Order: sequence, then C-alpha cells, then structure tokens
Amino acid sequence: AAATPFSTKMPVPQVLKPVGRRTAYDLYEISLQTANVDILPGLKTPAITYNGSFMGPTIRAKAGRPVKVRYVNRLDKGANVHLHGAHVAPSSDGYPTDLIAAGASRVYDYPNNQLGSTLWYHDHTHHMEAEHVYKGMHGFYLIEGADEQALNLPSGAYDVPIMIRDAHFDAAGGLILDVTQPQARSTFLANGKPQPYFQVAARKYRFRLLNASIYRTFDLDLGGVEMVQIASDGGLLPEPVRRTKLKLAPAERAEIVVDFSRHPIGTKLVLSEPSGPVMRFDVNRIVPDTSTVPARLRALPPLATPARTRQFKLGVAPSKMAYAINDLSWDANRVDTTIKEGTTEIWQIYNADTADSEFGAIDHTFHLHLVQFRVLDRDGKPPLPGEEGFKDTVLVNPGETVRLQATFKGYPGRYVYHCHMQEHNVAGMMAQMEIVP
Ligand code: C2O
Ligand code: CU
Repeated sequence: AAATPFSTKMPVPQVLKPVGRRTAYDLYEISLQTANVDILPGLKTPAITYNGSFMGPTIRAKAGRPVKVRYVNRLDKGANVHLHGAHVAPSSDGYPTDLIAAGASRVYDYPNNQLGSTLWYHDHTHHMEAEHVYKGMHGFYLIEGADEQALNLPSGAYDVPIMIRDAHFDAAGGLILDVTQPQARSTFLANGKPQPYFQVAARKYRFRLLNASIYRTFDLDLGGVEMVQIASDGGLLPEPVRRTKLKLAPAERAEIVVDFSRHPIGTKLVLSEPSGPVMRFDVNRIVPDTSTVPARLRALPPLATPARTRQFKLGVAPSKMAYAINDLSWDANRVDTTIKEGTTEIWQIYNADTADSEFGAIDHTFHLHLVQFRVLDRDGKPPLPGEEGFKDTVLVNPGETVRLQATFKGYPGRYVYHCHMQEHNVAGMMAQMEIVP
C-alpha cells in the first residue's frame, strides 16, 4: 500500500477562519468527527479527525489576543482536546477524564497570554489518546508574538508548518497501532501524506516542524545542508543555532530556516532520518527574498530563584505490568505533587529504564502541562544546542538525569505531566500536580 516516495505533493494544512470576531476574542469552531481520508493513493483511510481532515486545520493566533474554540463532538463517544504548550485554565486543558460527551459541544478558552510559539492541539482522552492521535486527532495552533514581525523572518507563504510522524497501514489502508501485524506497511507522513515532495522557491523558508508520532523519535538531516534552528517548543531561541542534524522526540517542535537560494533550480533536498526519507524539497523557481535571520532572536528572562527541587523517576512500574512515575502509575484520584501558585521549582527527571532494567533501555520524554520550562542541564552538562529556550517536552535518555526549572504561575487546579510517548502515558506514565492558591 505504501506509495513510491516523493509521488505526492505535501499540502499545507488549511488556516481556520474564525466564525466570530468579538471585541475581546476570536471564536472558532472545530468538530470532532470520523472521516474517510486520502492518505495512500487509491485507498480510503478511516480516521478520527478535526473538521474531517487528517491534519486538523491550523489556528493562527496572536499573543495577547484571546481565542475561544467551540469543540463540537460528533463522535459516538466522549473526547476532549489538549492545546499542547498552552498556558490555560484547567477547564480548557483537556484533563484526561474531563470529556465532552458524544453529541455535546463545549467552548475552551485560550487566553494566548504567552510568547509567540508553535503549539499543537491533540486528543487527551484517558486511555484513548494514543489511538486517537494516531488516527488523526492532531493539528497546529500557532501564536505569533508581538516581537516577531520586527525580526523580518520568512513569513506568509514562506512560513510553513510541517507535522511529521510515522504510520502503519493494513492492506486496505486502515491505520494500525500494532506494528507486529504481518500486513503492516510503515511509512512516514508529512502533513498527512506519505513521504511527499514540496516545491520551494530559491529563497529562505521558515519551517515549523512538529513530531506528532506516538512513539518514534526522528533523527533528521537534510543531506548535510544547513538548517538554522530559530525556535523550539516555547518559541524563539535567544540566538539561531546552525545545525545539520536535528533530533525531534514525540511532541517536540523545532523551527528551522532553510535557505534554498544556495541551491540551483532543479535541486532536490531530502529530509530524512536513518530509517528512511521523510519528505523532499524541490527547488523550482526564483523569488526575491528580503527576509533575514537576525543574530539575536528573543532574549531569555533571567532564571528566578527556585524554592525547592523535586525528583521524578520514569520507569517500569514495580508490578512490571505498567509504566510509572516515582513507581506509581496514573491514578486520577491521587494528587502526586502540590504546588503553591507562583512558585519556581527545579524538577529533576531521571530515566530509570537502563540496559539492566526489566525491559532494557527505553527512551522517555517528559511533558509538563500549564508551563514552559527551561532545561538547566543533562547529567550536569549544559543543555543541548536548541534547548536554550523555553520548552514543554524534553527527551530523557536511559540512565540520564535532566534538570528543568519552571515557574508554576497561572491557574489553580489539576494538571497532568507525563511521558509523551503516548504508548507509555496510556500505560501509566502520567501523574498530576495540583496548583493551589
Ligand atoms: Cu501533548 Cu498531555 O500532552
Ligand atoms: Cu516513555
């Protein structure tokens, strides 16, 4: 079923228009619905979608301008939506058991009182999030910062969100989570198409890469061509980072600028990872370019003084039947961490699944709701290039300890934190914090 690579054009997901513009906010509407979508040539793929499209529509918001989204649940079961990376009240955060009933609708409030950044929205229905996201419940939500326009980065048609992920299909075109099925055919998708091509002008582009896979980490390269990383999960980095390799764990984002003017018309550059090509950029025309990548992008605020340090251990549960954080699997009735609103803390995340543990070495990630954090160090060494800015998801290698710092400002209530390899959080590697006044 998998097509020859580079035979399909990569679409750019549609930008959603508000259904209403009020003085205080813009109102959007998104429906949760099943649909048969076109991914593989000649086959229909049953999907669970936002607005009927395998890649949900993109919302383009502005920092400081609130958005409300009315989610209409046309599925035959409850579901919810989490805006990953957003600073929102608990009632709009998609708490795993806080569902919009089948046939019902609900308005979520997104104040956008945060820095410009590439966020994404996805399902967070308890026990179902891996399957729901895998089957299409994912889309971009971009916040433009007031500071961004002055930078003169590539914009408009040259600012392109690209969601990459893996996907396994059965012979009929159905998406299957179980990769051990002999029928399974695997491919990579970029904006919902298998290993597509994307025609570009010989100029600079800003690509907002998101890894929406539920398990796979991508080790990307562009055939040695330079990718200038300008942003990560929480928005612009202090300075651009020039790189030829880019590692992207599930739910992480990296914004890169690629300058195609260095390549003659007809050049084809393949974005690939060790197990195969993801997509191809075909340089096909000349277009003037006045955009720039300034040497300074966004200054980071000084780190606040932390009030305390907490330890978190990611690993197989003592029962060996589940995953756990600090040896406890997810329990909605247990508050694992209580934090006074406004407090700054260091969280020390240790991945205990090393080569000599029960199931061998396993990578994990760590994602915190409500806040953007800073990566302080990895095993005492400075954060990796591209990790200097604000992040909400971080890869933690087997045996490694990553220290994060966050200020838990905002809204009282309960929020989850978890491994974003959704096979793991579904299997228990999720816990919750309660922010108290
Ligand atoms: Cu992107 Cu709790 O998730
Ligand atoms: Cu994990």
